[in-house]
Amino acid sequence: MAEPASTMDKIVALCKRRGFIFQSSEIYGGIGGFWDYGPLGTELKRNIKDAWWHDMVRNHPVGPEGREYQMVGVDCSIIMNPKVWEASGHVGGFSDPMVDCRECKKRFRADKVWIVAVYRAAVADAATEPPVITSGVEADTQDEATELALAGLSRKQRKQFEQDPTAAHARAVCMTDLPEAWSRTCPACQADALTEPREFNLMFQTFVGAVQDDSSVAYLRPETAQGIFANFKNVIDSSRVKLPLGIAQVGKSFRNEINPRNYTFRSREFEQYEIEFFCHPSEAETWYEFWRDLRHQWYVGLGLKSDKLRLRDHDPDELAHYARGCADVEYDFPFGLSELEGIANRTDYDLKAHMDKSGKDLSYFDAERKERFVPYVIEPSGGVDRSVLAFITEAYTVDPDRASPEFMKFHPRLAPVKAAVFPLVAKDGLPEIAEPIYRDLRKHYPAQYDPKQSIGKRYARMDEAGTPFCFTIDGQTKEDGTVTVRNRDDASQTRIDKTRCLEYLRDQLRI
Ligand code: GAP
Repeated sequence: MAEPASTMDKIVALCKRRGFIFQSSEIYGGIGGFWDYGPLGTELKRNIKDAWWHDMVRNHPVGPEGREYQMVGVDCSIIMNPKVWEASGHVGGFSDPMVDCRECKKRFRADKVWIVAVYRAAVADAATEPPVITSGVEADTQDEATELALAGLSRKQRKQFEQDPTAAHARAVCMTDLPEAWSRTCPACQADALTEPREFNLMFQTFVGAVQDDSSVAYLRPETAQGIFANFKNVIDSSRVKLPLGIAQVGKSFRNEINPRNYTFRSREFEQYEIEFFCHPSEAETWYEFWRDLRHQWYVGLGLKSDKLRLRDHDPDELAHYARGCADVEYDFPFGLSELEGIANRTDYDLKAHMDKSGKDLSYFDAERKERFVPYVIEPSGGVDRSVLAFITEAYTVDPDRASPEFMKFHPRLAPVKAAVFPLVAKDGLPEIAEPIYRDLRKHYPAQYDPKQSIGKRYARMDEAGTPFCFTIDGQTKEDGTVTVRNRDDASQTRIDKTRCLEYLRDQLRI
């Protein structure tokens, strides 16, 4: 069940206050579904992408039973020939069902709108007695919709139940399956005014060149994957690589989501990290299992250790018609369990679709097998911004006994700032000792220097930024050459020689 919204509200407030995430163009009232990263958020996001590139591409682990494979990267254009999106199926089928409210003019994703009919306690069947009230709500699941609708009833509405109002019987039906006779209640204004669902293509359109007509239409890419498929032959021909081979890409994707929501979770502009892993069809199942487990474990290794992370295999009826297997890595956000990444066995569907459309041969000759075939593809496809949000949510820790009752327990690899250096007071020769220590540390790790305010406030600021260690130079430093090191996670303090700060940081961070 979803946690109270207040946890999310607190995370959002901290992210704005400390410069992790801002609303895009906030001074003009913002723009729905677009977000900016502030100074701390930019470092955090960069660390996550760097960790992914390092662990998946440059220093990828060996495969099943110690098998070697190759990993390379590409960086493709955001706008591609529109035929790419015709071949991939995005022009014809990349759509969500949409409804409009004729009254308040708001627009919703029909598969996220539920009409909840609430009956008197004794009545359980819509056919026998009209509902006491019908509400429209936006929710991901039927249970959530029912819960939201019942929680939203006014006292007067509750009085309409005959005996026990808590026993009210509610029936939630998704807008996409709504029976003819039901009212089409708008989740925003509650008027019976929603239109019939219709398909809405999620690709952002633009025009290439000076003339704006049908022949110049192009699209902002809705996924990075197609750039990889379109370059498969280029990579094979240019790079002395052989299968099994993964081609990786990190970059922006754009989807004109009908209803962006849950903070940055569903945005209109976002970043993906995707791998298309090309292999012989007979080995696809083994590699699929390898990548599914590896991607799950990657999140665990970077700190999503709690029981909030789960790996869910899709049921056969959830699979796309071309897919042989699919699993989602999901994280239990305060707004509910949601997808961070999907790992799919896409078979030879994409390469064959591009072969058909382009007329180019994208098959591969395996010299060892002496066989030509169209490779199968295993695709681990993750959202960078969703990862950022999951790592922020996991790191968010409340401790009322601290000067900073909220602090961020980031994994050391992800922490935007690794160390801070403080002279206890900005006089008495302390800055002269602190500044060289800071300049030495920042050559190796992102570090900050802060000479002002009470020491408690400075620790609190660093706790909120998720900085693992703070070094404080005080009067004793002048006497015996030691500084205080404070540990973010347990607020413990210890003294070390001032010449050992870098060594200490290296030992503790182990990065
Ligand atoms: N190439 C396959 C593909 O794009 P997807 O499930 O549509 O598959 C992959 O997207 C990942 O991209 C998702 O697991 C999610 O992390 C991220 N993603 C998709 N839509 C998003 C959105 N509107 N906002 C933020 N991230 C999104």
